Amino acid sequence: MIQIAPSILSADFASLGNDIRRIEQAGADIVHIDVMDGVFVPNLSIGLPVVKCVRPVSALPFDVHLMIVEPWKYFEAFAKAGADWLTFHLETSSDSGVICAALQKIKSLGMKAGISIKPATPPEEVFPFLDELDLVLVMTVEPGFGNQKMIPECLKKVGMIRREAERRGLSPLLSIDGGVNAATAETARASGFVIMVAGSAVFGAEEPAQMISLLRGESLGG
Ligand code: DX5
Ligand code: ZN
Repeated sequence: MIQIAPSILSADFASLGNDIRRIEQAGADIVHIDVMDGVFVPNLSIGLPVVKCVRPVSALPFDVHLMIVEPWKYFEAFAKAGADWLTFHLETSSDSGVICAALQKIKSLGMKAGISIKPATPPEEVFPFLDELDLVLVMTVEPGFGNQKMIPECLKKVGMIRREAERRGLSPLLSIDGGVNAATAETARASGFVIMVAGSAVFGAEEPAQMISLLRGESLGG
């Protein structure tokens, strides 16, 4: 079953609460929240106060994607603000001890722990951490901006991670992020992931419910 996680990066921030209610009513499964620091990625977005303010608006899980350096400094604060899933980038440390401790910290705070990889990072780099992971977020664009074109080669990485996880009897959630739209969703669905993050496709749609069904691969009008 495919789950759809609209990225609020493409929402109208002047009416963020309403936009989140709208996608929840349209059948979204998860709310994806992109946090950027202008250092790890060349863009700024939103952070703790926004997560805290919109928390009461929705009962859906908040999937917070940290695109920031030294993400572990903020784990506790995001837990308090209302994050349910917390994902940081593998590229933020070359020390596997730091990555492992970070994942354990997230879980000890009661959240699902995720790692994200940029398009240039090989999937094998995630393998040493699979035992600790609840979620792997495979970037299918360079992180930093919404509404970019999907890099289809990145989809192969999802299958590679899934196969290695299955071989070890593990079943982390697998998610792709970037450039998911009506045209790319079909190829994406064939890659064996379960969660699709989609920002511009869902928030830009006149009928978000229709777009969510389309991304899931459900036949329309049936
Ligand atoms: C990019 C973000 C994505 C982005 C997706 O750095 O992580 O979540 O908002 O946007 P679309 O679906 O428009 O590519
Ligand atoms: Zn994201």
